[in-house]
Amino acid sequence: MAADLEKTIEEVQSKLDIVEVIAGYIPLKKMGANFKACCPFHHEKTPSFVVSPTKQIYHCFGCGVGGDKITFVMKHERLEFMEALKILADKANVQLPQIKGGRYSGSGRSFSSVLYRVNEVAANYYNALLIGSAKSKDARKYLAGRSLNADVVTKFKLGYSSPAWDDFMRFSKEKGYSTEVLEKAGLIIPGREKGFYDRFRNRVIFPIFDVRSKAVGFGGRVMDESMPKYMNSPETDVYVKGRHLYGLNFAIEDIKQKDYVIIVEGYFDLIVPYQNGVKNIAATLGTALTVEQIRLIRRFTSNAVIIFDADEAGEAASLRGLDLLISEGLNVKIARLPKGIDPDTYVRTEGVDAFLKLLGQADNLFDYKLRLLLEKFNPAEPTEKAKITSEMLPTIKRVENAVLRSDYLKKLSEALFINEEALLEELSKVKIDYTYLGGNRVFKERVAIKPAEKIVAGLMIEDPDIAAEVKRQLELKDFESEDLRTIVKTTFAMLDEGKNPTAAKIIHQLNDDNLSHIVCEALTETENHVDREKSLRDCIVRMKSDNLKSKREELTSQMKEAETRGDEAKLMKLVNEMNNLRSVKF
Ligand code: UTP
Ligand code: MN
Repeated sequence: MAADLEKTIEEVQSKLDIVEVIAGYIPLKKMGANFKACCPFHHEKTPSFVVSPTKQIYHCFGCGVGGDKITFVMKHERLEFMEALKILADKANVQLPQIKGGRYSGSGRSFSSVLYRVNEVAANYYNALLIGSAKSKDARKYLAGRSLNADVVTKFKLGYSSPAWDDFMRFSKEKGYSTEVLEKAGLIIPGREKGFYDRFRNRVIFPIFDVRSKAVGFGGRVMDESMPKYMNSPETDVYVKGRHLYGLNFAIEDIKQKDYVIIVEGYFDLIVPYQNGVKNIAATLGTALTVEQIRLIRRFTSNAVIIFDADEAGEAASLRGLDLLISEGLNVKIARLPKGIDPDTYVRTEGVDAFLKLLGQADNLFDYKLRLLLEKFNPAEPTEKAKITSEMLPTIKRVENAVLRSDYLKKLSEALFINEEALLEELSKVKIDYTYLGGNRVFKERVAIKPAEKIVAGLMIEDPDIAAEVKRQLELKDFESEDLRTIVKTTFAMLDEGKNPTAAKIIHQLNDDNLSHIVCEALTETENHVDREKSLRDCIVRMKSDNLKSKREELTSQMKEAETRGDEAKLMKLVNEMNNLRSVKF
């Protein structure tokens, strides 16, 4: 990072108080040394979002998000780093350094706005070509063949891109857009040798709009069986996959009015029902539903019917993904179509009434999951029965409503012939892991971090003296958790550069949701430690003895193996190593 940029970040960090920044977005309540609020990033009724003025960080104990003021603004306003920094720098009266030739010279927002503009130009261009040019005869025939009428072509601003290599590029350059902007918008691609060419050629074009009906990206379908079937825009400054839902902008009023949304996968699966009057519908475009998409939906309704592809519907991973919906407070039902049939085909062949009837018969998530698991596993087999419960209990655990929860427990106990007390006991052991993976996509299964390691990390993060002491006594490899190793490594590096590590700086440098979450957790863990030196000593001893123990276990198993193989030499060597380990003192 450029030195002047780094200086600006530090100035912004020190001039602004995180409490003031966050209070500008959500109401904060003072609670002891900290401030609390209902988390703006997940659905909750009791506040578990904490802002710490002393550490200048925020952390949600419910969903696990955490970070500093810059990441808060990024998340809350859905901005890029530099855009959030710009807002805060303005607030703090700090000048942003000018980065020459970079996309951020000037205001960060202006770059996004040029992308919106060029996308609009592209959408109009492709649409005009489809509607008014002799060149697009085949495309119009194709769409008619898929039963789309002129109304939806206009409404969804469908388009056509010519087979030429650079028709659009030449057109948009004449309009004054630079190669750089066109490439950043994902509309052109660098050639292998030299130059650029149009990304979308000889395809039917579907512009993807955000909720404000601004075009953010495109999908282009071939008109025959060739591959790839769809060409898509890459992620850009204005298009992050999993952040938008196709068609949602046209569906908002109907979703509010009907108070539910139908979720399908593809373009045609959305447009065909829409054309037939089913307008409370949105499409994921072939990916698993993300937290961000669920929150988008929740702005308009808390009820959804998902239409699942019969092929992938039974996969454990997609079943677990569904639990996310419950955590986010969405009441979801699942409709299953006959194998190999998608909503587009179903509506065309069976009619829209049959489609609505099928939606009306959708199962709630609990019943749906249980039915699938019972198809897959035999509850008469104890181990398979346990598999079913281990999939179902986390689902039940996420249900907020106690009446519903007890109802589900009862149903599960009846289906599996297990008494309710036993289920209840197991339920109390279930822990929900809210760690986000990357861009909020999935809940990651996380390996538990040993408390001693976490405490050592927590202690060192806020105190450079302790950090230095840890660096003298431990090595990176003494930390079993890979995530903690990354965090500790960053902290050590800061010490080496003569910088005082602070939580905000570390979170900043790591720039990763999952790791920020762990930093916040570690800090919370150590918040109430009074005798910090003693805690540190105890935990270091603990870590060393744990490591020694696992080394011994490893040696013991190697010795057993050497013995079975009759490898005397190896055995002697291992015995020696073991003796050396015994004499280790700390
Ligand atoms: P499908 O393969 O179900 O396609 O993928 P579809 O929507 O039914 O398209 P038709 O009916 O064959 O024309 C579902 C969605 O996954 C994405 C697209 O968004 C598609 O609508 N997808 C699929 C791609 O992005 N690329 C592909 O090559 C295929
Ligand atoms: Mn299809």
